[in-house]
Amino acid sequence: MKGKFITFEGSEGSGKSTQAVMVLDYLKSKNLPVVLLREPGGVKLSEKIRDILLDVNNTSMGDECETLLYMAARAQLVKEIIKPALQGGQIVLCDRFLDSTIAYQGWGSQVDLAAIETIGRFATGGVTPNLTLLFDIDTSKGLARTNAQKDRIENRSLEYHHRVRQGYLALAKKEPGRIKVISVDAPKEVIFEQVKHYIDVTLSEGS
Ligand code: TMP
Repeated sequence: MKGKFITFEGSEGSGKSTQAVMVLDYLKSKNLPVVLLREPGGVKLSEKIRDILLDVNNTSMGDECETLLYMAARAQLVKEIIKPALQGGQIVLCDRFLDSTIAYQGWGSQVDLAAIETIGRFATGGVTPNLTLLFDIDTSKGLARTNAQKDRIENRSLEYHHRVRQGYLALAKKEPGRIKVISVDAPKEVIFEQVKHYIDVTLSEGS
């Protein structure tokens, strides 16, 4: 792959989406070919799946169905946009990716991690981020920063979201080369300085 794939991860209210937009603007200002996507979503079909996943009325959805829907949305986004963009030498920024399923469904809902790994490889075709920025925030503080109108996942218990955070931190420990933990206890401009450093290093690698 000629391009670079950079993902933004974190539990609820971590401010990752704000940082993703700041990175997009930063790279655009350098006239670099860059695209920002989100998961679940990013293309028409995956956005439809997103609506199903986040709809609070879908109370009967099982963990297996939920996991497969996240993977289905991902498979379509990879095939339609991510893979061709990377092959064309673009920088792809993605607000969430496979690590989200490991943290939320794997750690949060306790879906079998080995199954997630296998299905994940199938869904992504092995496309892996060059860099993952993990925005880490205290679980209660993060939840307090989300909208009053909570979606199906945000609605889950504090314990659930705490497991998600632990899952992310475990992932970062396992893959310190790819996943960089950024504590969000600072103004967004200060956080962005750290973010920019990791982005610059990643873009200079192999170029
Ligand atoms: P967002 O709030 O970052 O747009 O993400 C939508 C929600 O979906 C968020 O609560 C996290 C959740 N999610 C999963 O549970 N598993 C996944 O694989 C992804 C991509 C998101």
